[in-house]
Amino acid sequence: VRDGAAMSLRIVRTVAELRGAVARWRRAGQSVAVVPTMGALHDGHLRLVAEGLKRADRVIATIFVNPAQFAAHEDLGRYPSDEVGDIAKLKRAGCHLVFAPPVAEIYPAGFATTVRLAGPAKAGLEDSHRPHFFDGVATIVAKLFISSGADFAMFGEKDYQQLLVVRKLAADLAIPITVIGVATEREADGLAMSSRNFSMNGPGASGWASMPIFSNRSFVSVCASTSAVSPLILRTRSGGVVPGAIRPY
Ligand code: PAF
Repeated sequence: VRDGAAMSLRIVRTVAELRGAVARWRRAGQSVAVVPTMGALHDGHLRLVAEGLKRADRVIATIFVNPAQFAAHEDLGRYPSDEVGDIAKLKRAGCHLVFAPPVAEIYPAGFATTVRLAGPAKAGLEDSHRPHFFDGVATIVAKLFISSGADFAMFGEKDYQQLLVVRKLAADLAIPITVIGVATEREADGLAMSSRNFSMNGPGASGWASMPIFSNRSFVSVCASTSAVSPLILRTRSGGVVPGAIRPY
């Protein structure tokens, strides 16, 4: 459903409001896609919205920097944030609803349930550098899937291991949602778009453009730890490991 220039983008902060909005769409017989994000949106996210609009009548974007997927030494406190800018971009992209909850809405006092993963989450790729990461992702993604009740969930192929993990999560927990993988959007020099690319600006940043040579559509994962110095490791399907670069994060 594209309402053109007159379209208003509703922002909701609670699961109850989200469910209410989706219930109204359901009563009108409309299908729903959800685009989970941590904000600081770029064209890769907007492509997910566009692909969602192709499949569903209504598209929800979620904006939530999920503390559960950051280790203590990582960049939670420095993660980029621009809610006003994100909302303007989502409005232009034709998104219908933004769910941007505060931390206490997702993890209220006494929150005690975490999704624990095996399978693709333990493939020895990003998980070997960020052991906490996929359980944190799975916990928030399960909550977003269940809270939105969406038919489709849009995820970038850039985070390929994450895509496999959330597909398995939906299948294993019988969450009735179809996870759609969407091709990676790239900068002019070939670098995959990422909210964290901001930290690659400055002297020597051009070295990062070598990443897509390795990660280009084959089953390759780029594993970057988010400590003060970030060793970039490229691991191929055959198990080979290529140290790509060492760069201050
Ligand atoms: O890919 C991301 O931005 C995050 O891991 C996600 C899926 C929004 C969960 O917080």
